[in-house]
Order: sequence, then C-alpha cells, then structure tokens
Amino acid sequence: MRRTHHCNALGLADVGREVVLMGWVQRRRDHGGVIFIDLRDREGITQVVFNPEISASVHEKAHEIRSEYVLGVAGQVSRRPEGMENPNLRTGGIEVMVTELKILNTAKTPPFEIEDEIEVAEALRLKYRYLDLRRPQIQQSLIFRNRVSVAIRNYLNENGFLEIETPVLTKSTPEGARDYLVPSRVNPGQFYALPQSPQLFKQLLMVAGFDRYYQIVRCFRDEDLRADRQPEFTQIDMEMSFVGEEDVMAIAEGLMKQVFGQVMGRELPTPFPRLRYDEAMARYGLDKPDIRFGLELKDVTDIVAGSSFKVFADAAKKKGIVKAINAQGCAGFSRKELDDLAAFVSIYKAKGLAWIKVNEDGWQSPIVKFFSEEEKRQLAERLDMQVGDLVFFGADKAAIVNEALGHLRNHLGKRLGLIDEGRFAFLWVTHFPLLEYDETEKRYQAMHHPFTSPVESDYDKIEPAPLDVRSRAYDMVLNGVEIGGGSIRIHQKALQEKVLQALGMQPESYQEKFGFLLSALESGAPPHGGIAFGFDRLVMMLCGQSSIRDVIAFPKTQKAACLLTNAPSAATQAQLDELNLRIKAVAATP
Ligand code: AMO
Ligand code: AMP
Repeated sequence: MRRTHHCNALGLADVGREVVLMGWVQRRRDHGGVIFIDLRDREGITQVVFNPEISASVHEKAHEIRSEYVLGVAGQVSRRPEGMENPNLRTGGIEVMVTELKILNTAKTPPFEIEDEIEVAEALRLKYRYLDLRRPQIQQSLIFRNRVSVAIRNYLNENGFLEIETPVLTKSTPEGARDYLVPSRVNPGQFYALPQSPQLFKQLLMVAGFDRYYQIVRCFRDEDLRADRQPEFTQIDMEMSFVGEEDVMAIAEGLMKQVFGQVMGRELPTPFPRLRYDEAMARYGLDKPDIRFGLELKDVTDIVAGSSFKVFADAAKKKGIVKAINAQGCAGFSRKELDDLAAFVSIYKAKGLAWIKVNEDGWQSPIVKFFSEEEKRQLAERLDMQVGDLVFFGADKAAIVNEALGHLRNHLGKRLGLIDEGRFAFLWVTHFPLLEYDETEKRYQAMHHPFTSPVESDYDKIEPAPLDVRSRAYDMVLNGVEIGGGSIRIHQKALQEKVLQALGMQPESYQEKFGFLLSALESGAPPHGGIAFGFDRLVMMLCGQSSIRDVIAFPKTQKAACLLTNAPSAATQAQLDELNLRIKAVAATP
C-alpha cells in the first residue's frame, strides 16, 4: 500500500478515483451498520467510509479501530450524498469508500482529546507533547513558524548575509542573565558556558572580514521564566560592517516587510516610527510601549510638589516623581475595582494608587482635600479632566512610578477595549542609556550589553556622569513586546576598556574574560553593528498566540523543566566522578 494523497487533497474533481490515504483516526461513528472515520494528517481531514455492502470483511475489521489508531486505507472517492456535505472541511464534498484497510498501528486511549479548544492542564499537554502537537492549531503554528524562517532566510540571502555557525560550548557571553555551565571532563574543574547570544563571535566575524553575517541560533539564559521567555530560545542574529544605526534599522525593517508580505500577505509600511528612550519613558512609563492606544502618562510633580498631601510632596522632595493617567469615562469604577487596581500596581512595588473621580457634582477622592484651588485647576488642565473621568496617580522613585503606571496603562488599555487587536504597531526605541545602576549589586550595569557603543558626543561623560551617557542601542517593539534589540558596537580597544572599567571591572578581570575581544579590536576591527530578534516571540506575535510555548515544539515549564523527558535529572555517581564533581546535599523538592 502506498499513499497517493494527503488528507486534505481530495475534492469533487477526484470523484471516481482510486486512492490510498494514511493517517490517524480523529473520530469513529457507527451509523446503521456503516462506519465513518475522520482520518487526519498534518494537512487536514478526509472522511472514509466502511460499508458492509462494499466489503463485509473490511467492515468487520473496522470495528477494531479506535481513536488515534494509524490507518492505511484504499478505496474510491465518491461524492457525499446530498445533505451530508460538510462545508467546514476542504474535503467536505467527498468521502472515500474503503475497499482495503491496514491498521498500521494501534494506540492507547489518549489522555486528552486531540482537538483544539480543549480544556487540558498544560502540564498534561507537555508531558504528552507528541500528542498535543497533533492538535491542528499547534501544527499550524509550527508550519507557520517554518514559513517565517524561510522568508527570513530568503531575505538575508538576497541581501548578502552569510549564515555562519558559532560555538555552543563557549565562554560566557553576558546579556544580563545567568549562564548555563557545562563541566569539562578533560579539563577537570573547568566549565564551558552556553551562549546567551553569539554576540562576541559575530563581532569577531566582522573583524575577520565577513561583512554581513546571520544565524538562526539557539541561545541559553538561566533567568526567571515568563510567558515570553524560555531558558533556551531562538534568535535571528545579524551583524553588519561599515554601518550606522540607520543601515541596521533599514535592513531590519526590510526583513519585517518581507515576512509580512510573504507570510501574512500584508503590506507593512516602513520606516517604523521612532521614539527616544526618554520620551518613551515619559509618555508610556515603559521602554517597550504599546502605541496602539493613548492613555498616556502625564508628569504632575511640579503641580503637587507643594501640596499638603504628604505622599506627593515627599516624593517630589526626594527627587521622585508624581505621574497620572486619565482613564476617560471610568468614573463609574467601583470601590472594589479601584482596590483591585491598587493591588495590581503593588506587583510593581507601587505603595498605593491614589485616584480622583470627576463627578457631575465635583471631584470625589480621598486626597482631594489636600489640594488648593490653584493646584486643582492646574491638574484639571494638564490632565484634561472632564466629567466622567477617573484619574490615577503614582508617586515614588521614577523607576517605580513609570513601571507601575506603564503596566497599569497596558492593563487599562486591554480592559477598556482600547486596543485594535488586528493591528501590528511596530516601533523603534532608540538612545537608551548606556548604563544603569544596580541597587542590589551596588554597581553599574550595561543596559544592553558591554559591547554597545556610547553616542560619540557623550564619550567624555563616561567617567564623571555615567548615567547620563546615551548608547547607540535600539530595540524593535511590536504591540508592546520587545521583539528585537541591537546596537552599533565599540570597535576601538581604548573605548571598550573605558566602558568595561565604568562597569566596575579591573583590567585583570576583563583581560581574563574578554582579552580575546580586546586583542581582536586591536587587529583592524571595522566599525560594525547588528541586531538580534527573538524568533519565538516574533512568531508568537504574528500568529496571535499569548505564550511562546505555543510556537515551540518542545518547550520547558516555568521551572525550566521538560515534562516529556524529565530533564533536568540527576547524574550518576560515575558521571560525577568522571567530571570531578561532588554534589552538595540538596533539600528534596516537595
Ligand atoms: P537581546 O538580549 O535583546 O540582545 O536579545 C534579543 C532578543 O531575543 C529575545 N529574547 C528572548 N526570547 C525568549 N526567551 C528569552 N529568554 C529571551 N531573551 C531574549 C528578545 C530580545 O529582543 N546580542 C544581543 C543582540 C545584539 O546586540 O545584536 C542580544 O542578545 O526578543
Ligand atoms: P493614605 O493616606 O495612605 O490613606 O493614602 C491615600 C491614597 O493615596 C490611597 O488611595 C493610596 O492608595 C494612595 N497612595 C498612597 N501611597 C501612594 C503612592 N506612593 N503613590 C500613589 N498613591 C499612593
């Protein structure tokens, strides 16, 4: 028996044809002695019919068939009787009258039905991922993912990029996460790190003269996981020589345009809007704003600094800020809704969420008594407060207020239905600060990575005012999700050393970690820059999924475990001995 068609191929034009189909049993129905089976494969479903009048023995055997059995069937395509057509299936006009049946394999009753829209715990789905992956929706997502990667490869190949592989067993490539380490057997006590990104290798490829590099590459980061983060994920990684920001951004926009054109059948307008980091923070509170709706944040620190509301006055005094959002038309929110929103912002360390309702008969608020008439007038003007509005306030250090109100804005945007879900709003965020101060570690950190170039006019601020230095980094944001980030790099050794020193590193330490890079920068490094896209995130956004787990064949859980294979797992004593490792006593996980 050899397959002649897949399960989504046959139609009325094929009536009368002898065909062979192979696939899985989606559903079996017995109707007055005739057995109907929906046979499923990657492409779709075809109804096959076992009629005792056509073949009594085949019909007899068909009684053994259960869900998810694997069948080969031979038979003739016939038009379905009138009234029995299924307009929801591409093959819904026909059925195959089976004359020969091969049960290629049996199957245990699956732990959940192989159908979309089923309520199954994700843990169970991940444990039986090979069954979960049979569901049409996930199959479509992975097929879609493949189409996106083909479009990307085509574009990069057409634009002179060379795909070059870089090592996976390597030295730490810092991108702000923890490294995954791999012990070396032949070098006792020594470890490789899995790459957080191919950053240093792609820069070395530029030093080597390859001019334009790309790679669709796995990266590893040991960090707290969320819906849009996995411990291993895929980047579309690129690097270019003799370029500035505009060149990299134009190539990246062209790439998105090609993906939209080829895969989504949509025209994507370019160039994308650009927003400087400072402005993004001021207006949206976040460095990856969703610009599909308004609800912008307004700074009111100057107005309330002198008010008698201690929380606001104190924030202003301590160099913090007070910002507000006007949720227009929301004055009807209940006390409970307001409390829930206060609980929501507390996730982001906000200590409270003051509010003012603008009612017909005046303002209603626990804090209104603290404002003078003049302060009230100025607030009303700056926040454009109209009857029916509800204004929220945050007061604290700028970082807390921005983060809390930025997320509140996204939350309200969704909840109030302000977002056009069919829209793809791309945006570049540029001019990030080069460094940020890490309060817990009490030192400066690179906001992007330590190889990002400062803006030239800020070079001389690196020592006296490190936080004022802007960088040549840029992020591509889509609907409030950071889908890519990159920068123009430092290509001169002296500047690279200066930045490493600003990060608190001593020469011995950076020589040990990045000596090979510094040496390469002294060997004729061209000016260069690049970008990397989070491929999983991009695919997730394009096919409208809410988790990257839905576009990864074998994803890991929040605890970085693979429920299918039970990785990670303990090593045997023999393996540990060979690696010269001893495990400290670990408390058993409950
Ligand atoms: P960055 O760290 O911004 O840049 O990473 C690039 C993009 O990768 C995606 N991403 C992730 N996706 C899923 N799970 C994760 N844990 C995860 N972490 C990051 C994001 C992000 O925008 N070497 C630089 C790029 C460069 O400078 O060229 C880098 O890795 O979408
Ligand atoms: P209190 O005086 O503590 O009862 O607070 C009065 C109102 O101010 C309440 O609605 C609090 O949620 C709010 N509030 C308290 N601290 C802050 C803060 N840091 N930022 C914004 N609102 C706050």
